[in-house]
Amino acid sequence: MKKISLASDHGGYEQKEAVKNFLLTEGYEVKDFGVYSEESQDYSDFIYPAAKAVADKEVDCGIILCGTGIGASITANKVRGIRCALVTSVEVAQLTREHNDSNVLALAGRTTDLDTNLAIVKTWLDTEFSHDERHERRIDKISKIEDKENR
Ligand code: RB5
Repeated sequence: MKKISLASDHGGYEQKEAVKNFLLTEGYEVKDFGVYSEESQDYSDFIYPAAKAVADKEVDCGIILCGTGIGASITANKVRGIRCALVTSVEVAQLTREHNDSNVLALAGRTTDLDTNLAIVKTWLDTEFSHDERHERRIDKISKIEDKENR
């Protein structure tokens, strides 16, 4: 069974709760890093620990939300080993798993409707990395950039 970290700011809170219910209904284990209300909060405080849990292999992957998904995805991509994709369509959800082996999914809680986001979540979780040589090579090059930048 897949274990998933989940986090949002206030802009993603309402849809985070819906995504959480969906995941639990589908039988996933969820580690919820907040937020727990619609009170205004800084997304980095909640997204960072959820992304770190993926990098530290406490969970298999992560799903994060803010109003646009942009602040959340920028934050998650600061964590070494995280390949976070901000996704607004089902087609891209499939492509980012097949091509980028994304391990964190960022969603826009205010600018993408809930039905679309739930379909994105389902496709993203159900799609495997292609393991094509060219995609492996490109991901490897990203890791090398991380190594260079973190020296
Ligand atoms: C919060 O108002 C909003 O800025 C945040 O949810 C997100 O969209 C930032 O990228």
